[in-house]
Amino acid sequence: MNIDPRVRIGPLVLSNPVGVASGTFGYGAEYEGLMDLGRLGAIYTKAVTLEARAGNDAPRIVETPAGMLNSIGLANPGLEAFVARKLPELRRLSTSVIVNVAGSSEADYLRVVEALEEAAGPWSPRSGAGGATGQEGATGVDGYEINVSCPNVAHGGLAFGTDPAQVERLTRSLRAATRRALIVKLTPNVADIVPIAKAAEAGGADAISCINTLVGMVIDTRTKRPALARGTGGLSGPAIRPVGVACVWKASRAVGIPVIGLGGIMCADDALQYLLAGASAVQVGTATFVDPRAALKTLEGILAWMEGEGLAGIGDIGALFGRS
Ligand SMILES: Cc1cc2nc3c(=O)[nH]c(=O)nc-3n(C[C@H](O)[C@H](O)[C@H](O)COP(=O)(O)O)c2cc1C
Repeated sequence: MNIDPRVRIGPLVLSNPVGVASGTFGYGAEYEGLMDLGRLGAIYTKAVTLEARAGNDAPRIVETPAGMLNSIGLANPGLEAFVARKLPELRRLSTSVIVNVAGSSEADYLRVVEALEEAAGPWSPRSGAGGATGQEGATGVDGYEINVSCPNVAHGGLAFGTDPAQVERLTRSLRAATRRALIVKLTPNVADIVPIAKAAEAGGADAISCINTLVGMVIDTRTKRPALARGTGGLSGPAIRPVGVACVWKASRAVGIPVIGLGGIMCADDALQYLLAGASAVQVGTATFVDPRAALKTLEGILAWMEGEGLAGIGDIGALFGRS
């Protein structure tokens, strides 16, 4: 059986469904010596904000049972440095690059996307994506993942992602600014993810990704203070996987656009849960800290499983849900 692992996200064809999650893989090039990045379905970069951000005070990471809590606070070199230093590196890569964008106001998000559109130029599909080889014509940006779900910043972040009206308005204004793939990343820190997913679709998103981290706190009983300097942080890792799978299951039944699933994927079996729940693609995050090659191993496992099931395309996996 010949397997076609490609996945379509709006105008973009990913060479396979397994990407690396924002904030857990730097801007990609950092991992070049460790693996063949061209085998990843996509690199979702660390967030880019208008101004450089130092992030929150340390300590900003603490281990938890089956996961970790972080309060990095979107530390990043900012738009200008990203364009000057990171974009040229990203142009060299032969995998699709989705730039994660964050901001504290609607205008911030728009300025980042507009500036990246100008810096990257008109989009042409990266020839490495979709199965071919080489990077001719790569612009360094194949799409945007709009982070309206960061729990670790005082302004913006989560505040946007919990209000359907704001999500729709923001998505619509960004949609008008780009023809590249536009993905809105949702938070699980809401009573119901469905209205937010629908709002992103109504605003013109090509896909949604879910989930970002869950708000959590660890208290050091010795010092009687929170283990993280900021107090709360975002919980990631296997502990949140059932929440993510449930969000994907609900959201994918509510919208017609692809859903990209993430949260606690450590291996192929975990990713298959998301694909069975209705995801079209997945991202591997915290697992990369344990094993930098976790995403590639996940992909190999998915393909082996598909072979065993006699499936030809990624889209066939979801059709098996509920069947044995
Ligand atoms: C250290 C760290 C930094 C992160 N930074 C970002 C970020 O900049 N933008 C974003 O959208 N998500 C960020 N995330 C969230 C992840 O992309 C992902 O949604 C979350 O960790 C759940 O997936 P996982 O359990 O596989 O890690 C970050 C997560 C971690 C652990």
